Amino acid sequence: MTEILVAYATKMSGTKEIAEAIAERIRSAAHEVTVLDAAEVRTVAPYKAVVLGSALYAGRWRPEAVKLLKRNADLLARRPVWLFHSGPLGAEQVPQRAPHKVRELAARIGAEEPATFGGRITPETAVGFLAKRMATGPMAGDYRDWEAIELWAYRIAQQLVAAR
Ligand SMILES: Cc1cc2nc3c(=O)[nH]c(=O)nc-3n(C[C@H](O)[C@H](O)[C@H](O)COP(=O)(O)O)c2cc1C
Repeated sequence: MTEILVAYATKMSGTKEIAEAIAERIRSAAHEVTVLDAAEVRTVAPYKAVVLGSALYAGRWRPEAVKLLKRNADLLARRPVWLFHSGPLGAEQVPQRAPHKVRELAARIGAEEPATFGGRITPETAVGFLAKRMATGPMAGDYRDWEAIELWAYRIAQQLVAAR
């Protein structure tokens, strides 16, 4: 049985790469980890703990991540759950408040509010008119802080070891 699920919701792959880095860190602490697109997760029943992250668009989570939370709320309430979102662009990383619905669901399942990680907008990866325009603007760049992501994942791995 796979022990830990790391699920992500993304449009331009930036959040997927964060999820993969988190999974790698948790895996190196000798946990079995599966990484899946949130849209592919039917149930979290097989997993003993869940990490879920979404890209932020116009202050919202991607619908597939919200759906996962909503559909699995009862199962998630009985498991350790960590949430994150990725979005802010610019050198200064301001933690983003989760959308109301996500905060409500997080409270219901007993998870902390999501950690915020910087996002990425680059001409090579931009998808859609707005993103392509932003990718040539002053906020363009890759603001994902891999050290902060590693540290966050490391803390999760430690908590999972302690809970064994
Ligand atoms: C149209 C559009 C709207 C966005 N809205 C937000 C936002 O509300 N908050 C935020 O922090 N980032 C916002 N971003 C930045 C994205 O969240 C960032 O580029 C992120 O890395 C995208 O993740 P993905 O590559 O996983 O899709 C927006 C980007 C675009 C293109």
